[in-house]
Amino acid sequence: MAFNKRVKIKTILDTNPIGTEVTLMGWVRTKRGNKNVSFIALNDGSIITNYQVVADPNLISEEILKKCATGACLKVTGNVVASQGAGQSSELNATSIEVLGEADPEKYPLQPKKHSMEFLRENAHLRMRTNTFSAVFRVRHALAFAVHKYFNDKGFFYIHTPIITASDAEGAGETFKVTTLDLKNPPKTSEGGIDYKQDFFERETNLTVSGQLEGELAAMALADIYTFGPTFRAENSNTTRHLAEFWMIEPEMAFYDAEDNADLAEDFLKYVIRYALDNCAEDLAFLDTRLQEEEKVKPADQRSEMSLMDKLRFVVDNDFVRITYTEAIDILRNSNPNKKKKFSYLIESWGADLQSEHERFLVEKHFKKPVILTDYPKDIKSFYMRQNDDGKTVAAMDILFPGIGEIVGGSQREERMDVLTKRMEEMNIPQDEMWWYLDTRRFGATPHAGFGLGFERMVLFVTGMGNIRDVIAFPRTPGNAEF
Ligand code: 4AD
Ligand code: MG
Repeated sequence: MAFNKRVKIKTILDTNPIGTEVTLMGWVRTKRGNKNVSFIALNDGSIITNYQVVADPNLISEEILKKCATGACLKVTGNVVASQGAGQSSELNATSIEVLGEADPEKYPLQPKKHSMEFLRENAHLRMRTNTFSAVFRVRHALAFAVHKYFNDKGFFYIHTPIITASDAEGAGETFKVTTLDLKNPPKTSEGGIDYKQDFFERETNLTVSGQLEGELAAMALADIYTFGPTFRAENSNTTRHLAEFWMIEPEMAFYDAEDNADLAEDFLKYVIRYALDNCAEDLAFLDTRLQEEEKVKPADQRSEMSLMDKLRFVVDNDFVRITYTEAIDILRNSNPNKKKKFSYLIESWGADLQSEHERFLVEKHFKKPVILTDYPKDIKSFYMRQNDDGKTVAAMDILFPGIGEIVGGSQREERMDVLTKRMEEMNIPQDEMWWYLDTRRFGATPHAGFGLGFERMVLFVTGMGNIRDVIAFPRTPGNAEF
């Protein structure tokens, strides 16, 4: 099978097999030349670098060469020779070219020029064929692999938690309903409500917002577990940081307290970023240059002071700042943007929820380092977080990153049955439906903790892209579910 004999461009660049015959397969990025010779820049996705194919019209017919237009897919056999030109150490002297798939240059949307991000989003089915997006998705892969490697090496077990559930773990009411009922004519109860007893699961169900609650059940048996799956939130947030469908990594550990939790999170984030630095050098160098070009057109006061690589190394090399919510409120209340009323939401008193403008002020202006904020007021956090002795705060932590804001949310969990059920009552969380969750507190309860990392926010940080829609292949946002 010829298809199995193809050599990847990455392999050629790694091994430099001058003097051998190879078969390449890939897509044409550009073609240039004259009537004596054509140069085809071929890309097969294995690496950001295009490989130069040299086609001699005495060997390759004019009819074939005409079809080697931008976007076409080729199978090229030829000899690897030392390159005459600058920019590459070797090139392929083609002895045969087969056009596997033509691309009409009049109709192919991607041209060898700079397209706007918006245009590429509208053409998300093709955008991975650009340097920027292929780099993003190779880095995304490396980050996902690093997540699994980190936890596997530490003896954590990967648990697949359900995507369809009957609970709203975060209690924010932002769920997408799952039903097979006829929406035009749903069965009704005697009280006039929808009769979910007749639905597929014989109850009301939704797509999960988090795998945490089921993760906690697993941690009460396997001790150290993590989940890595899609989560869904119907929050109407049209921002560069929110998706309706995103991937979350949620480790959950028995015998961990809040400080152990923060230590693990910091170590984990640094490991994953370091993995990308060590394994994605070419793609990150490209994305670094891309970001610098993007920064150049911004007004001077909005430009980032650090390059992408500097920012990544900075996070890996420095301790994160750890402060309590109460300390953060003091800093924010006395900050210039608060006094000069520059914040959209002014910080007036303890208890205020922090907006992304506040988080970014702390990280980017005040500390200039990632920040782990702990011990939030219980009233702005979820029911499952462990209450501190002050009766006002919970053992929560949010990790804030430059340019991103919140990247991780987590907590020590409330393992004390009486405290937990009292809190559920106060927050109107139905205890009868959550009998299975409460059983972990009834039988063999122990202190435990965990956190959730929004995977796309991590990819956003590492790639330096400006919009979360550009780090997931097919983004789901309000009003947008194309592809
Ligand atoms: O802070 P969140 O809501 O925490 C939880 O879901 C907990 N159950 C996690 C846990 O303790 N096991 O979400 C966790 C992270 C956020 O910090 C953020 O990075 C990301 O998920 N996230 C989103 N990412 C993209 N789009 C959205 N709409 C997001 N909402 C949260
Ligand atoms: Mg959160």
